[in-house]
Amino acid sequence: MKTLRTQVAIVGAGPAGLLLSHLLGRSGIETVTVDHRTYDEIAGTIRAGILEAGSVRLLVDSGASTRVLTEGHRHDGVVLRFDGENHRIDFQGLVGESVWLYPQTDVFIDLAARRRSDGGDVRYGVSDTAVDISGARPTVTYTEPDGSVTRLEADLLIGADGSRSICRHAFPDGGRGEWFREYPFAWFGFLAEAAPSHDELVYTRSDYGFALVSQRTPTVQRMYFQCAPDERPQEWDDDRIWTEMRRRVNGNGFEVEEGPITAKMVLPFRSFVTAPLRHDRLLLAGDAAHTVPPTGAKGLNLALADVAILAEVIADFYAAGDADVLDRYTERALERVWRAQHFSYWATTMLHMVPGATPFDIQRQRGELALITGSRHGSTYFAEAYTGWQQPKQ
Ligand code: DHB
Repeated sequence: MKTLRTQVAIVGAGPAGLLLSHLLGRSGIETVTVDHRTYDEIAGTIRAGILEAGSVRLLVDSGASTRVLTEGHRHDGVVLRFDGENHRIDFQGLVGESVWLYPQTDVFIDLAARRRSDGGDVRYGVSDTAVDISGARPTVTYTEPDGSVTRLEADLLIGADGSRSICRHAFPDGGRGEWFREYPFAWFGFLAEAAPSHDELVYTRSDYGFALVSQRTPTVQRMYFQCAPDERPQEWDDDRIWTEMRRRVNGNGFEVEEGPITAKMVLPFRSFVTAPLRHDRLLLAGDAAHTVPPTGAKGLNLALADVAILAEVIADFYAAGDADVLDRYTERALERVWRAQHFSYWATTMLHMVPGATPFDIQRQRGELALITGSRHGSTYFAEAYTGWQQPKQ
């Protein structure tokens, strides 16, 4: 077995792990990042597509991506559609901010390329990864793609290894709390070869359930509709999918653009937070620490926000030589996490048909949509949350 030493060992080479490795590299802190997935597996995973203004600034200002500005699309507003009418929320007019349509896959590709050109140590496709925090220094043991086994020793261990995190499970029994909520529905997501239906995203509430018309490129579109959690993608052919989209979205002169469907999947709906995010020299970031339902696309944005704080706290740890400064991470990160938990939950309940909803529940939901779209204060609340709370409480 080969032994390797580094300052910070990162498990997970998704956007959270790679951005952390990049930011620490800029502070002169050495990292080794491992992931059981191959580069192609991560790059081939279809995930959400909206970046908050602050996420874009972080990627650009840290030198992680310039492509987000040249190939991403700035959106200055979004449409909430209900009772067959479009209601635009004007982000620029209300809060002076925008979001960018730039898929998570591209964020990963940019970060991976940047790490490669900066000589960062990122190992994809490792197997049998195990972490141990019982000794004075944390270790990660893994098998390289060539079959050799490495024992990586580090000052700090970061679990950026997604919702099925192995690092989260390395906390001692009783060492953290969990807050969890399940929803009685899911999203059916698909990619279609079609023209954009609109120049901004359209979030639709209909009596048949929620639908979202998003975008990717001038010729490929991303869309979602509310479905049962156990829905099976193979049972949905193109005709059935477009029939469902039409009855939820079309009307009063608005029509979804149709075309051949090239990928389809069911996305689970869960809200989850664990705390604290630190035990001794192990810290969690991104989906390993929290999950949001997809409405509003907060997952990636939260992961990037976690990592910005974590990079600062880790730099403080090396400057002060004191592990206690690491404790600041939990409180700072979770302030935003709980705001986003609330927003994702609230936007979900405002726009979806909840099985068993009473006529009262449905009228109340309509009242809420009328308030959010018809009042400047209501719209501003939505716009501020969607674009990402640019001035969070200090
Ligand atoms: C997308 C996904 C979301 O969850 C969302 O709220 C908006 C857009 C997307 O994949 O494009």
